[in-house]
Amino acid sequence: MLSGKRILLGITGSIAAYKSLQILRDLRAAGAEVDVVLTKTAERFVPSLTLQVFSCRPVHSDLFEHQHEMAHLSLAQTADLILIAPVTAHFISKMAMGLNDDLLSSLLLSSPAPVMIAPAMDLGMWGHPAVKSNVAQLKARGVQVIGPEIGPLASGKVGMGRFSDEKIIVSQVISHFSEAQPSLEGEVVMVTAGPTEEPIDPVRFISNRSSGKMGYAVAEVAKSWGARVVLVSGPTALPVPDGVDCYSVRTADEMKAEVARHIVSAGIVVMTAAVSDYRPSVFSSEKIKKTGKNYNIALEETDDILGGRPKGPQGQVVVGFAAETENLLENAQKKLKQKYLDLIVANDITQEGAGFDVDTNIVHLIDVHGEITPYPKMSKHRIAGLVLKKALALKTSVS
Ligand code: CTP
Repeated sequence: MLSGKRILLGITGSIAAYKSLQILRDLRAAGAEVDVVLTKTAERFVPSLTLQVFSCRPVHSDLFEHQHEMAHLSLAQTADLILIAPVTAHFISKMAMGLNDDLLSSLLLSSPAPVMIAPAMDLGMWGHPAVKSNVAQLKARGVQVIGPEIGPLASGKVGMGRFSDEKIIVSQVISHFSEAQPSLEGEVVMVTAGPTEEPIDPVRFISNRSSGKMGYAVAEVAKSWGARVVLVSGPTALPVPDGVDCYSVRTADEMKAEVARHIVSAGIVVMTAAVSDYRPSVFSSEKIKKTGKNYNIALEETDDILGGRPKGPQGQVVVGFAAETENLLENAQKKLKQKYLDLIVANDITQEGAGFDVDTNIVHLIDVHGEITPYPKMSKHRIAGLVLKKALALKTSVS
C-alpha cells in the first residue's frame, strides 16, 4: 500500500517514543522506505541502533554529521511525507515558531512534503492555551494532527494527551496516500454526535456509552474537505474540530430542536448520535432521597429525530447509523427503509474494536439501492471518509 513512498519519521523526546518502533515496522511492512530522524532527547528514550536495524538505513540526529552531503537537504527533498510521532509540546512550539536548531526542525523548514504529527503529552500541557494556539497554527498551515486520545497517561492521570494507537497512525498515513481527497466545497454537512442525557433529578440522568468519536471524525473530515460543517453534539469530552460550528445540546428534545433548525439547509446529513430512546416521564426538581424501598422510574419514549425529521432541500442525502447487537444487516436494512435514508452505516457493537468509546469501528455500508459493502476494522476517521465519499456519490447520482 505504501510501496514507492518515502516517509521521513521524526521522533521527539516523549516516553511514547518506544511506540515509534512499531510504527516504523508497520510502515515498512506496508512497503514504505522510512528514514528516521531523532531529536537529542528522543535518543534517551529509544535506541538508535534498534531503529537502524528496523529501518535498514542509517538513523539521523545530528545536524552537522553529514555536513558535506547536506544530509538535511536531501532527506527533506526526497520525502513524500513527514510523520512526527510522537511529537512533544516543546517540538510543537518550535514548529509553530519555525525555529530550526536541530536536524529535524531544519528538515521541516526545508521540505515541501506534507506533514503529519501525533502528539503525546500530559493532559495539562495539551489543554494549555499556548499548546492549543500552536496546534491551531499548525493546522491552519495544513499540518495534519493525529490524536491525541483520551486515556491513561504516563503521569498516572487519565485524560486527553495519550499518544494515538500505532495502528491508527499508520492507517492515517495509508489513507493519506490511498484516498484522493474529494471536495465538499460549497456543501453544508450537518452531523449529530454523542449521547443524549435525560435527567431524572438535578443530579441523575439516563444516558449511554457513546463517546461522540464517530460523529466528531465525520465533522473533522467534512471540514477538511471544504464543507461548512454544523455539528449538533450531545455531551462529550471531545474538543470541537477547528472551523466547525458546534451546537451543544443535552436532551433528545434539545437535539431535535437544533437538528430542525439546521437540517433544512444541509445537503448532506450524517446522524451518528446515540439518542436516548426513553426519558423519565417525570423530572423531580428535588434530589430523590433514599427511602429504604425499591424505586421504579417510569419512562416514556423520546421522538425519533431522524425518522421524524423535517423535509430537507432537493437532493439532500441522509445517512443514519445502526448500532446493533444481533441481526445486524436485517435490523439496519429495516431502519434504512423506516427512516427513509439514502445510506446506513451498520455496526455490530459486540465485536472487539467496534462501537462505543474506541477509536476503531467495523462497519457495513448499506445504500438505498440495496448495495451492501463490508469493511474490515478501520479508524473512525477512515470510516468517516468512506461515509462522506459514498454520500457525495449518492448525491451526485441523484442530481
Ligand atoms: N435516531 C434518532 N433519534 C432517536 C433514535 C435514533 O435520530 N430517538 C437516529 C440515530 O442517530 C441513528 C439512527 O436513528 O442514526 C438509528 O439509531 P438506533 O438507536 O440504532 O435505532 P432506533 O431507531 O433507536 O432503534 P433501536 O434502538 O430499537 O435499535
